[in-house]
Amino acid sequence: MNLDNFLKDLKGRDLKNNVPSVSATVGCFLANLVKKAEAERILEIGTAHGYSTLHLVKNLPESGKVITYEFSKPSFEAAKINFYQARQELKIEQRFGNVKACKKLLKERCFDLVFIDGQKTDTLSFWKLIQPVVHEKTIVVVDDVEKFSEKMKEFLEFIKTQSKWKTQFLPLDEDDSILVLDRGKVKL
Ligand SMILES: C[S@@+](CC[C@H](N)C(=O)[O-])C[C@H]1O[C@@H](n2cnc3c(N)ncnc32)[C@H](O)[C@@H]1O
Repeated sequence: MNLDNFLKDLKGRDLKNNVPSVSATVGCFLANLVKKAEAERILEIGTAHGYSTLHLVKNLPESGKVITYEFSKPSFEAAKINFYQARQELKIEQRFGNVKACKKLLKERCFDLVFIDGQKTDTLSFWKLIQPVVHEKTIVVVDDVEKFSEKMKEFLEFIKTQSKWKTQFLPLDEDDSILVLDRGKVKL
């Protein structure tokens, strides 16, 4: 099965099993963004069963890598199987645990793209956590900023004070938007 067919099948399984993965539209947006930004090092917070991760690797060059964090053991294991079955496991480094407690992250080389899709009330903590590992051209994408705006209130207020970051709210889904943040150094 090729990756596109695998993703279709996985989305069907996620819907059936109530796994809160991104929509197919957001998935395609992420895959295109990787290409446009020529991203090689990608960080994802919130793997679930790996649907968004597999979109992030779709246009990744051979030398690229996605590091993805998940703190639910069953989800971590389900994603592992999916990455093997999709034959993408070599491009993905799965890390098990709460990203907020992960000291390893602070020693990482900077990421070109960060996708934040973990616990919504922790979005501000995630934002602060990634600041040591972003560079001038890093793009940050935050999912569900409309549907969970109440839970993300603190983050959405804080981001208004971050004058170096440009914000674009993109209503990709009927009932939801993603937020794309960059420092105006990449042509999107
Ligand atoms: C919305 S789902 C992710 C969906 C996935 N990005 C996709 O589109 O296929 C959020 C996931 O993040 C995980 N999570 C939430 N907060 C986390 C944290 N602090 N550290 C690691 N994983 C976290 C949850 O267990 C859950 O599986």
